[in-house]
Amino acid sequence: MQEQARAILRHNDRGGYTVPTAGLYPFQWNWDASVTALGWMTFDPARAWEELRWLFKGQWRGGPNDGFLAQIHFHVPSDTYFPGPDEWGTDGASGTEQIGTRTSSISQPPLHASIVRWMWERGTGPDQDAAVGGLCESAVRELLPRLVAHHLWWYRTRDPQRTGLVVNIHPWESGMDNSPAWDAPLSRVPRTTRPYERRDLGHVDASMRPSREFYDRMVYLMDFNRAQRFEPEALLRLCPYQVHDIGIISILQRASRDLVHLCQTFGLVAEAAQIAARVELTQRAVQALWSDRWQQYVSRDAGTGELLEVPCSAGLLAAYAGFENDAGPTVRAWLAETPFGLPSTRSTCSGFEPLRYWRGPVWQHINMLIARGLADQGHGALAQEVRTRSEQLFARGGFSEYYDPLSGKGLGGKSFSWTAATYLHWIAS
Ligand code: GLC
Repeated sequence: MQEQARAILRHNDRGGYTVPTAGLYPFQWNWDASVTALGWMTFDPARAWEELRWLFKGQWRGGPNDGFLAQIHFHVPSDTYFPGPDEWGTDGASGTEQIGTRTSSISQPPLHASIVRWMWERGTGPDQDAAVGGLCESAVRELLPRLVAHHLWWYRTRDPQRTGLVVNIHPWESGMDNSPAWDAPLSRVPRTTRPYERRDLGHVDASMRPSREFYDRMVYLMDFNRAQRFEPEALLRLCPYQVHDIGIISILQRASRDLVHLCQTFGLVAEAAQIAARVELTQRAVQALWSDRWQQYVSRDAGTGELLEVPCSAGLLAAYAGFENDAGPTVRAWLAETPFGLPSTRSTCSGFEPLRYWRGPVWQHINMLIARGLADQGHGALAQEVRTRSEQLFARGGFSEYYDPLSGKGLGGKSFSWTAATYLHWIAS
């Protein structure tokens, strides 16, 4: 299977960046790029760093969104995806310097600093040769200021009051696009009335994809962002969708800890202190997102202040984030309910749908992050159990985009990059 996984990355390689899968996702995606780089790192370190270099080519510079890193990077045109670059309207966005690549106008979970740390540790480890070590050192030096700018963008524009909890302004920004957790806050978002043409249904069966109503709201929010000229202050004042997403908050928290470590190692003292102060704030503030009912963290509607009482796998990233609560008992309960790994939504919750996008299926890279957190928190055997279940899924469902947690069947796009990369990093090596 290792050769097959490598072949998928090579097949999806577009000469420096990797598409998630041909056809359905023909561009470079933000958090996919990081996971994919981990996979490249296991057999081609130079190519792995290239993946991140390409991603950061699209980082916005200057203006109120300095440091912004978009969800999609449209390096070359393709007409197999909606919404493409013209829909987002970011060209010449006010106050931004036009950089090498066209992008969307929302971000995605900021995994990058953690991934960079792991790649650097792997590449400078005792069994690596000096040339690889040197390559890693210089790549980290080059990327560090970019990573700092990106984290500061999150904190400055999405938590200007220093509450400790960043806000997201579009479900696609969570990376867990149509999780049932977003249903309540989305119900306040109008449906667009303008015409548009979806492309996803030409690639994947409608039963595994979001509904029309959901897409109407996605388009409304995309157009809303454009109408505000991407102005962070206006967006936080006016955007009808604002959520404290526990996934983004946890991933950002872990990445900021890793970034502090990298900054200290590479002599960026002031930056390390700046980010560490934000980590402290979040560490305290996250307690407000604890659900007694589900015994895990959940997201919160930032508009109404209400907890979104939907247990999602994002809430199992608490140990990964370094939050205080013991993640073990709840993960054990989840594992007892579904045979194949950790579903994106807990199967005992009314929003659970085993086949539909983020409403139930398993995503392998999420399992990998959860297992990593469990191991860090001292739950070695449990981490191993999550890994074993994931390995069984690979064997049964191949390198699919996601999997049915009840049957283990592979779903969505095939020959998927971050799935193959997760296999290479977590299972094969
Ligand atoms: C879907 C997923 C998102 C991912 C993208 C590319 O939109 O929900 O998380 O980044 O596909 O794989």
